[in-house]
Amino acid sequence: MKVKVLDHPYVQAVLTTLRDKNTTQIDFRKSLVRLGRAYGLEIIREFETETTYVETPLGVKAKGLRIKEADKVVIVTVLRAAWPMTEGLIKVFPQARQGIVSARRVEEEGMKPGYRFNIEVSYVKIPKIEPDDVVIVVDPMVATGSTMDTILNEVVKRGKAKRYAIASAIITPIAIERISKVAKELGIDVTVYTASIDPEINDKGYIVPGLGDAGDRAFGG
Ligand code: URA
Repeated sequence: MKVKVLDHPYVQAVLTTLRDKNTTQIDFRKSLVRLGRAYGLEIIREFETETTYVETPLGVKAKGLRIKEADKVVIVTVLRAAWPMTEGLIKVFPQARQGIVSARRVEEEGMKPGYRFNIEVSYVKIPKIEPDDVVIVVDPMVATGSTMDTILNEVVKRGKAKRYAIASAIITPIAIERISKVAKELGIDVTVYTASIDPEINDKGYIVPGLGDAGDRAFGG
């Protein structure tokens, strides 16, 4: 598994806005959309391209390129916090097929030993995955990897894709280790895109320093 930390100043400035406790709900939500679009541009770097030619209004042929895999993208949104990032990604991949997973950590039961949560999945609707697809799973906060473990297992039930990208704002080393293990078990090629690897998880399962509860902050509680 590969992990790409997006060190672009634009991404880091947006992350800083997200972390700031004084950021309003509207700015928080808009910042997640901005992050989604920036991630789309980064993810597209890995896509196959081919040379193409177009005729300009001057009647002259111009050499250009076509992004070959752009119409092979499936975006899987983990409700509800991932929704704004997906909105940004869709601006880069307007032809994407889309899936939804409604999953929540059962926080009332507390975090189990080994930084694990039980995950309750209440709704899954994912299109059939073809062998040449590129699946992007969007979840802004990947703390323990429990939710991502469940989702990757749901996604592969729809078919194996060529490769998988995880779009997260913040992830932890514990989650990276867990997802790497899951990717190996499932035999899938995964790249994690993140703006930061934060070092800690508190006893409630929140990332530290983190940015708080992404869903609550984006949607007003
Ligand atoms: N989900 C969040 O929204 N924030 C965290 O810190 C962890 C999980």
